[in-house]
Amino acid sequence: MNRWAWVEVSEAAIEHNVRQLAAIAAPSRVWAVVKANGYGHGAVASARAALAGGAQGLCVALVQEGVELRDAGVTAPILVLSEQPPETAATAISAGLTSTVYGAGGIAALAAAGGRLHPVHLKIDTGMRRVGADPVSAVAIADMIESSPAVTLAGVFTHLAVADEPGNDFTSEQLRRFDEVLNALSAAGHRPPVVHAANSAAAMLQPNARRDFVRAGIAIYGLAPAPSVASECRELHPALSLHARVAFVKQVRAGERISYGLHHRFERDTTVATLPLGYADGVPRKFQSVGGEVLLGGIRRPIVGIVTMDQLLVDCGPAGGDERQVAVGDHAVLIGRQGDEEITVADWAQQLGVIGYEVVCGLSSRLERRPA
Ligand SMILES: Cc1ncc(COP(=O)(O)O)c(C=O)c1O
Repeated sequence: MNRWAWVEVSEAAIEHNVRQLAAIAAPSRVWAVVKANGYGHGAVASARAALAGGAQGLCVALVQEGVELRDAGVTAPILVLSEQPPETAATAISAGLTSTVYGAGGIAALAAAGGRLHPVHLKIDTGMRRVGADPVSAVAIADMIESSPAVTLAGVFTHLAVADEPGNDFTSEQLRRFDEVLNALSAAGHRPPVVHAANSAAAMLQPNARRDFVRAGIAIYGLAPAPSVASECRELHPALSLHARVAFVKQVRAGERISYGLHHRFERDTTVATLPLGYADGVPRKFQSVGGEVLLGGIRRPIVGIVTMDQLLVDCGPAGGDERQVAVGDHAVLIGRQGDEEITVADWAQQLGVIGYEVVCGLSSRLERRPA
């Protein structure tokens, strides 16, 4: 592809981040969460980099995401993090994925699809209230798993709701409920080979959440789960950057207005550059109104006018100003470094009132992912 807008992903950064996390979480291992196309970074490249950095396994959200990794030759264990539609069970089995179950329905679907000792992790809802088995039914479900020839209990886990809030006691409460379940399982004779609870924030902040492995997503991409965890993440390297080349340059006169709605009015004669990417690529339409910027010629320059589906406009300063000259083909950076300047995913998140996860997951598949 030769499009003048693309994402670059540094596999070296992901490897480094996994090594950092492994050092923090040791003796717990790291399983890398590469769902949603590796949080927008590219699932296969992210998985390979994470495994090269020492990750012992991978987590995905969907069976089809696991299949994509298997088709690319990934042989590491792959856990699908929640129960999936029964019609995907046969594929999960044949792809050698590990399934999550939290009830009779999930077990029955794997049995109906011909499972033979198919590995499953039992997910316990300790307070996130999204999906998972009620703690009081954990032993009964584990009994069901162990008495079925279709499946075998390969792990037990839970998910934390407020791990990125360092002072919030609810994480300890969730872990207390989780331990109660683990004790009850043990008393009933169940010995799951692995137990896990931590996401990235908990891996960083909550030693008691680390268990056999941590399920690290956002941190392996070099991003902090939240501003409250930013200082713990300072040794991580952001893996993703967003680039474009100037597709068109023009002069506008003082008083002219541009883009849909003609909301932006120029106060002086100005050079305007057009970059060939827009909201269909994941650059939000409202960026102009919240102060979005791009780096061009090593200088921060404001996005002006509404971001359109495929193109956005950049104020490159007074017409004719020498050091601000800009030409078709010039390299612009929307996320990442240029010269001494940097625009981060956290900058976007803060300006747009979203979380960094949404920024990177929102970069559409229309943007080619290239190795950095
Ligand atoms: C069940 C589960 N575990 C782990 C993760 C990874 O979380 P994070 O990206 O915050 O590390 C997620 C992500 O949403 C998840 O849903």
